[in-house]
Amino acid sequence: MAEVMLDLRREPKDRAYAQLHAQFIAVMSGIDDDVAGMATLSSMLHHAFGFFWTGFYRVVSAELLRVGPYQGTLGCLEIAFGRGVCGTAAAERRTVVVPDVQRFPGHIACDARSRSEIVLPVFDAEGKLTAVLDIDSEQLGRFDHSDAAGLEYLLKWFAGHGRG
Ligand code: SME
Repeated sequence: MAEVMLDLRREPKDRAYAQLHAQFIAVMSGIDDDVAGMATLSSMLHHAFGFFWTGFYRVVSAELLRVGPYQGTLGCLEIAFGRGVCGTAAAERRTVVVPDVQRFPGHIACDARSRSEIVLPVFDAEGKLTAVLDIDSEQLGRFDHSDAAGLEYLLKWFAGHGRG
């Protein structure tokens, strides 16, 4: 496999996510493995968009997230449901966009350089929450509804591993 790392920083977001989705599906062809999917998607998103931290927290018990595959500086190891942005997205099973992390009550600052953040729930084929995808940026207000839509579409892979 000799895939080129995409640089999508200058593309309109909808086109950028469409291109990244196409490459992700191609790269993951024939691979039915959540950890491989998480690692590959973290790498592709992180480098294509130049994010500060990109990765997954996995649901390891009823109310606990533990760090999974990621790209970036050292992340917190465990986050309880309801704590910080990740724990809120997990507890409420919804995408949370935070334009300014300093204005989010209870934000967990793993690295002070992170200024804005988006966290999305990851569901399996039965609709069970299995993880969250956390992306941090050094820019204020980096994420909006276009990122939410593009990323939610990418994460559908985990509910079907590209089948259907
Ligand atoms: N900021 C996150 C914690 C995870 S790290 O930033 C990698 C939060 O508040 O959930």
